[in-house]
Amino acid sequence: MLDMRYQGIDLKTYKREKKTLNKMVDDKYRQSFHIMPDVGWLNDPNGLHEINGVKHIYFQYAPFDVNGKYYKMWGHVSTKDYINYDWHEPFILNDYVRDLHGAYSGSAYLNNGKVEFYYTGNVKKMDKDYDYINKGREQNVIKIVSNDSFDTTHKQLIMDNNDYPSDMSCHVRDPKIFNVNDKRYMILGARDVNSKGMALLYVDNGNDDWQLVNRITTDEIFGYMWECPDFVTVDGHQIIICCPQGIQTQGYHYQNVHSCGYFDINYDFNNHNYDIKDFHELDYGFDFYAPQTFINEEGDNILIGWLGIPEADYHNLENTLEWQHCLTIPRKLEYKNDKLYQVPVKELENLRKENVDYHNYNQASYELLINNINGNGVINFTNEVKLIIENNLITLDLGTKGDGRDKRYLEVENLDSLRIYVDNSSLEIFVNGGEYVMTSRFFDLEYNLNINLDSEVVLYPLNSITINNKEVL
Ligand code: FRU
Repeated sequence: MLDMRYQGIDLKTYKREKKTLNKMVDDKYRQSFHIMPDVGWLNDPNGLHEINGVKHIYFQYAPFDVNGKYYKMWGHVSTKDYINYDWHEPFILNDYVRDLHGAYSGSAYLNNGKVEFYYTGNVKKMDKDYDYINKGREQNVIKIVSNDSFDTTHKQLIMDNNDYPSDMSCHVRDPKIFNVNDKRYMILGARDVNSKGMALLYVDNGNDDWQLVNRITTDEIFGYMWECPDFVTVDGHQIIICCPQGIQTQGYHYQNVHSCGYFDINYDFNNHNYDIKDFHELDYGFDFYAPQTFINEEGDNILIGWLGIPEADYHNLENTLEWQHCLTIPRKLEYKNDKLYQVPVKELENLRKENVDYHNYNQASYELLINNINGNGVINFTNEVKLIIENNLITLDLGTKGDGRDKRYLEVENLDSLRIYVDNSSLEIFVNGGEYVMTSRFFDLEYNLNINLDSEVVLYPLNSITINNKEVL
């Protein structure tokens, strides 16, 4: 039995203990085309990269604790096509004095055929009572290098709390490495001692000599901590994706406990001046957080998010199921009409079976294309779970089937089309070709599709993805 006093674990112990809990219960809420934990908890996608045609997806994984507090490590899957996946042993375990209480989020960087990973080693001091905000926590930037995305070198400490500006709290984490004009930058999420959220930008002067070049933030406080920042250039537009925590709900905005979205920014990497503009939410559903992007071998920016959120007051049947959370489907980013669009990657079309009549369709796991929408209407996925379209307002209403989730709203200027991915217990609703998205879990097995909306509808039942050559269901 593992000691749940929150300490490190090595691969040998992991393997021994994992055997004792490998109860992959075949409950009907398990997903059929989303990456989810075999058992236990999953959160942020980490270390995303593609090398030799293989996409590697790591994720925050806590197989021994369905609530994700203990023994947090990096799980690992890989795929060539987003349809057939291989599931691997955990890639980074929390087995080092600098990451004992969690191998937290981080990213991958391709460097001359090797893959370099930078992540946060979380250490909570236990000798006294701490608030763990301004005292009692180490947030270490740790590096490992891999030849093949599987093996790893020893863990190398790159930065610790002493290397961050002195007005930072102990919350500085989630390094994302990116390249501009042949220089390497690291962006880190941060909370200062006044609980102002921001991102810290470092440049590598060579050989991991990281120097702070800027703090990127807003004039007014916008969230007390920015988790998982990502600097991305999409179709020539610079943006910073991040998760500002604790923003108050304003009308139909910031409806969740923590937010996730992007700032348009003009960042001049020569003199480190910037102009940060409006924040746009990336999602209007209940369950979307901590996305990460990577540039695939075709040069596209691909985003994968956590189909979940921390500290929400709703649940995932975790008292009855052996697992919690999954990743979103991968989405390609495009910048058009002054906005960031999220478009399901084209490979997912290979999941489609022959299209079928959608009337009273009573299975899960399908893709719905709804075009030429005219006027108001309702789409019922089950008797209780529905999408209501009323003038310019779209309402996702889960009735009593959200395990604490009720309604989420999205206001649009116009509504032309919807593309909806329905898995056994999740919905991803792409509005107007990805201009807006609503992502959510739901828990209702009485699927019964009913569309009352003047529109053209096509329904494709979807195959399952495979994991280690087996259909996941
Ligand atoms: C975001 C986050 C990150 C952290 C990780 C820990 O969901 O809190 O900031 O690195 O999860 O699992």
